[in-house]
Amino acid sequence: MIESPKPFDAEAVRRDFPILHQEVNGHPLVYLDNAATTQKPEAVIQAIVEYYRCDNSNVHRGAHALADRATQKFEAARQKVAALINAPDSRQLIWTRGTSESINLVAASWGRSQLREGDRILVSAMEHHSNIVPWQMVAQEKGATVEPIPVDRTGMIDLEAFAAMLDDRVRMVACVHVSNALGTINPVEEIVRRAHAVGALCLIDGAQAISHFDVDVQALDCDFYVFSAHKLFGPTGLGALYGKRELLEAMPPYQGGGEMIETVSFAGTTYNQLPYKFEAGTPDIAGVIAFGAAVDYLMSLDRKGAAAHEQDLLRYAEERARATPGITLVGTAANKTSVMSFLVDGAHPHDVGMLLDQQGVAVRTGNHCAQPIMDQFGIPGTVRASFAFYNTRADVDRLFEALAKARQFLV
Ligand code: ALA
Repeated sequence: MIESPKPFDAEAVRRDFPILHQEVNGHPLVYLDNAATTQKPEAVIQAIVEYYRCDNSNVHRGAHALADRATQKFEAARQKVAALINAPDSRQLIWTRGTSESINLVAASWGRSQLREGDRILVSAMEHHSNIVPWQMVAQEKGATVEPIPVDRTGMIDLEAFAAMLDDRVRMVACVHVSNALGTINPVEEIVRRAHAVGALCLIDGAQAISHFDVDVQALDCDFYVFSAHKLFGPTGLGALYGKRELLEAMPPYQGGGEMIETVSFAGTTYNQLPYKFEAGTPDIAGVIAFGAAVDYLMSLDRKGAAAHEQDLLRYAEERARATPGITLVGTAANKTSVMSFLVDGAHPHDVGMLLDQQGVAVRTGNHCAQPIMDQFGIPGTVRASFAFYNTRADVDRLFEALAKARQFLV
């Protein structure tokens, strides 16, 4: 007899996250703002403490034991994160301050050196500002254009419209894997394939994807993949840029300073090899090591079970929302991660968020740094509940109880 798999034990996992066990405004905390940042398991917190208590030293430079230890842990973390996305070589994984900086790096380095007047950059209409503004900045400098790929009412990319936009002047297609505002999972394999067919490169913003499902950059065949540690149960202020080797090799450095050089003289400077060419200055060593601990933690979980649990939370929450008069879901794509954006009739999202917070329920409100898609929908923003694997159906129930109470004040 084949045993059915054990259901994912969210209650057990919750014990690994100390921050979840507190009261906020006199109520037990219900944390539903995971798309903004995820909470950190004890193992990640301990990795930071241990680094500063035992190993604190600079990397790649010192001639002593602590420096060796710090360097070894720092580079081991790079290998873990590279393996997580199936990068062919950890030297193709560059540390940055976050997804935004990763995109800025590509826009500034590749964009400034490669874009010409009349070139076109396509971004989806549902992008986060961080995948719009860096392209606008370099486009303005180079005489290129940034054009939105249409998105339909449900929050899905219009692939036919995208195909019709493609021509040989398109040099870059920059697209979000999962929308932070709507939860839509975009068909990025298809988008990469179509971009490549006209000779364009493709950058995928994976900030909201990587905590929900496996990402394989080789299978996707994307040219760049960018993400942040803090949305993957790691620390803030740290991100990564994966790039195809030949592209990274050809790109000029983004910032100058220590570490990114090979030799320096007033006659001229030569640059370090990958990945250090793009890592000027002392990096966030504790952050990188803790990110490695976050990946270890993630790998210790039943990831398929976690993903199924998150989908269950989404379905349950959306069913409850549909059954509640006066609540409208925003973002109803067929394929979504556990993000539920919604509107409450007659109430501004900020007021709803404030009233939920008073009852211990943490959500995000506003345009979620995705103003163009909110403008397209003709709304100022939404209330967004975003679930992680440590959330439970009881958290969803608390959300709806709190919403019911909030609405007594709002009408
Ligand atoms: N991009 C993050 C969010 O969606 C901050 O909340």
